[in-house]
Amino acid sequence: MAAGTDKHVRLKQVSAPAVTSAPPDTDAAGATVRPRRLDDFVGQEQIRRNLAIFVKAAISRNEPLDHCLLYGPPGLGKTTLSQIIATELGVRFKYTSGAALTRAGDLASILASLRERDVLFVDEIHRLPAAVEESLYSAMEDFRLPIILGKGPSAKTLTIRLKPFTLIGATTRFGMLSAPLRDRFGIVMRLDPYNEEELALIIAHASERLGTVVEPPAAWRIAARSRGIPRIALRNLKRIRDYMAYAGAEVIDVKLVDEAFSRLAIDRYGLLDIDRRLLRAIDEKFRGGPVGLDSLASAINEDPETVSVVIEPYLVQLNFIARTAQGRVMTDLGRKYLGDSDRAAGGHEELLF
Ligand SMILES: Nc1ncnc2c1ncn2[C@@H]1O[C@H](COP(=O)(O)OP(=O)(O)OP(=O)(O)O)[C@@H](O)[C@H]1O
Ligand SMILES: [Mg+2]
Repeated sequence: MAAGTDKHVRLKQVSAPAVTSAPPDTDAAGATVRPRRLDDFVGQEQIRRNLAIFVKAAISRNEPLDHCLLYGPPGLGKTTLSQIIATELGVRFKYTSGAALTRAGDLASILASLRERDVLFVDEIHRLPAAVEESLYSAMEDFRLPIILGKGPSAKTLTIRLKPFTLIGATTRFGMLSAPLRDRFGIVMRLDPYNEEELALIIAHASERLGTVVEPPAAWRIAARSRGIPRIALRNLKRIRDYMAYAGAEVIDVKLVDEAFSRLAIDRYGLLDIDRRLLRAIDEKFRGGPVGLDSLASAINEDPETVSVVIEPYLVQLNFIARTAQGRVMTDLGRKYLGDSDRAAGGHEELLF
């Protein structure tokens, strides 16, 4: 059939889209410490329990898992969990990202290449261009993909039947997703920051895989300064391991951890220079606020997205700043912290390190 040929030609014409079988290894922590099975994934109890049930049910019905949306701050395990889901389902994992899918054709050729029940992971799904997003709707809903051939009055629509697959979308910006997209996910899961016990366990597992001995109190100490985020905990572990080698030590103990953190200028709350600069800007430049996101970001030379997604949430969690309708404001606790930080710089290091 002519339409069939057309389809073939069309799909071949699009340039090789950005799809890979693994996420780009942007993590300093590396792939060696990444948990591979649901049982190795620490914390997020409810999500794990539910996923185990959904995965089992999908396998027993011989069906793809419902589409999943994972959201939450960077470094909490969205990508890791998605890979685990594919492993538990016993299917292939295909990685792409919202920013890489610039044209509907890119998405079409990725979707057409999926095998039955494959997992297609779309990272940063809030960055999908509108036209690409719209073509995803019917692909998600009934595994059909309409393709428009030609332009103007002679344009024809061709529908490609897809193999049933599972889309897993990940985002740090849940609020930026359109309602039609959100509604097409059967499973929506929010990842929350981890407590110290969970982070200490993640550090213990990782250090075992890295062949480094970390004393349990030292693992807790690292956990306490990792802002509730596994990626930060693992990054800290790696830097302390470097320091251990430099100091000629054999094990990581509390004393070594404290020395390393002091050198890294990471204080007992896990705050860095950039956090202190942000607090100082609100306190001094904007006299305690309220100040809007854009003004604040430009005062510390950062982009607003980094400020609101990476820096601020933890400062809000510590109750050092508050986000109000008028803007960001300094709290009494935040002011006290800055006072301690000034005195620490003046020789009273014990106040912060
Ligand atoms: N629950 C967990 N147990 C063990 N390790 C974890 C867990 N969650 C995350 N990690 C580790 O933390 C690192 C960051 O996780 P991951 O890349 O999955 O985060 P993410 O949510 O996808 O972040 P981003 O939003 O930046 O893409 C990885 O090295 C991963 O192995
Ligand atoms: Mg990720």
